[in-house]
Parts: sequence; structure tokens; C-alpha cells
Amino acid sequence: MNKNDYIIRLETENDYHTVENIAREAFWNLSVPGCCEHYFIHVLRQHEAFIPELDYVIETEGKVIGCVMYSESKLADEKGNEKTVLTMGPICIHPDYKRQGYGKALLEYTFDRAREMGYDVVINFGNPDNYVARGYKSCFRYNVCFEGDVYPAPLLVKELVEGTFDGRKWFYHQNDADAPCSDEAAVDEYDKKFQPPKVKAWQPSQEEFYIHSHSVISDKR
Ligand SMILES: CC(C)(COP(=O)(O)OP(=O)(O)OC[C@H]1O[C@@H](n2cnc3c(N)ncnc32)[C@H](O)[C@@H]1OP(=O)(O)O)[C@@H](O)C(=O)NCCC(=O)NCCS
Repeated sequence: MNKNDYIIRLETENDYHTVENIAREAFWNLSVPGCCEHYFIHVLRQHEAFIPELDYVIETEGKVIGCVMYSESKLADEKGNEKTVLTMGPICIHPDYKRQGYGKALLEYTFDRAREMGYDVVINFGNPDNYVARGYKSCFRYNVCFEGDVYPAPLLVKELVEGTFDGRKWFYHQNDADAPCSDEAAVDEYDKKFQPPKVKAWQPSQEEFYIHSHSVISDKR
């Protein structure tokens, strides 16, 4: 893959089904049996926190093979000061094109666009393997946590502008765009729009997801 191999452009309505289908292919059985990410993309586009100007797809060989989306969330410090940050996700690359640098290209391109728009921080949950090479760090390093001083291990923070964090504690209040995804019946119903029908099954990556999603960072060792 080189820079001439691909085009990165804004998503259009004509891409919606293709993009959701890529998410379904990329996430199916990855974290849990089945997946909700195609439905999540569908509801996210309609959410007030969604940022259409940062809704990008990547094309190669004349077809869309991946996407990344962002929404706005809040950080609040202990005095109640608020700061708007980006929540990244979903990001996905079709399994046929994984691990060839397309995800990296999408992230780096959209980080530049986000910086131009004035954003200085990106936050997302994820497997650190996918993100540390993009400059993400543990939330613990920047003192970004959940209410109750919980620092989830998969909560990853990227400074788009170096030196944004000054050591004070920030509580991360993620927008609620993913709330409809807990409605399993709605997800299953939406999945019927896609072909071929898929079987929900266990695979080892689900245990990896379980471990990450139940882990917290602590300085007590
Ligand atoms: C995660 C995903 C978006 C990454 O996109 P990609 O095009 O496959 O990844 P890239 O080839 O651009 O590699 C991105 C980084 O992942 C890491 N990586 C790549 N191959 C890897 C491997 N085999 N094992 C572990 N990490 C690897 C590297 O850090 C790499 O960065 P580097 O090239 O600077 O070292 C894509 O694989 C995907 O859609 N996966 C399924 C859905 C998913 O997990 N989405 C993210 C939810 S948290």
C-alpha cells in the first residue's frame, strides 16, 4: 500500500449501507457473539453529538473498504470546568484489507482534519494494540477517569495538540450515542437488512475483549 493506492473522502448517503456492511464484516463475533456496530453507525449518524465533518471513508480498487466516525463528548474537572473532546469510533477496515496500513491512514488523515477544526483531544475505548502506534496513551497518564476515580485499561487518550493536559484530574462523560445498542432485539432486527445471514458464535478474541473491558489501571502494584 502506498499513498496513491487509496482515497480518503467524506461519507455520503450512498455509502451508508456499504459502510454498515463493512462494520458488520469487521466486528462480527469479534468482541461478543454477533455485533452491534452496523446498528451503532446507523443510530450514531442521527445523534446530536455526531460530527458529519469527521465522517470519513477510505476507498481502494474503486470501492469503499473502511470508515471512521467521531462524536463529541465532555471532560469535567473537579471544579466543574468542562472541555469538549472527540470520541473516536467506530473505526473499521474490511477483513480482506486489514493490517495493510489503511486504518493507520484513516486515523492520521482524520486527526489532521480534527486538529484543523480546533479539537485537541481524542478518546476511545479499544485494544491498545490498535492505537499505541498512533500516539494514544493510557488514560492514567493524563489523569482522565470515570466518576469514582476509575481508570479503565482500554480507555485510551490521544493529545492532538501536545501539552493539552496539565495534570489536573478530568472525568470523562461520554455521549450516550451507543445507548440504543443495548436493545438486542433492535440490533437483531436491523441485522436482517444485511446479507448473508450470519451465525453468532464464540471466538477467542471475545475473551481478549472481556479481559480488556474488565481491567482498570492502578498505581498499586
Ligand atoms: C482495528 C483496525 C481498524 C485497524 O486497521 P488496519 O488497517 O487493519 O490496521 P493498520 O494496518 O493500519 O495497522 C494499524 C496499527 O495496528 C497495529 N497492528 C497492525 N498489525 C498488527 C498485528 N498483526 N497485531 C497487533 N497489532 C497490529 C500496529 O500498531 C499498526 O500501526 P503501525 O503500522 O504504525 O505499527 C482494523 O483491523 C479493523 O477493522 N479491525 C476490526 C474492527 C476493530 O477492531 N475496530 C477497532 C475497535 S477498538
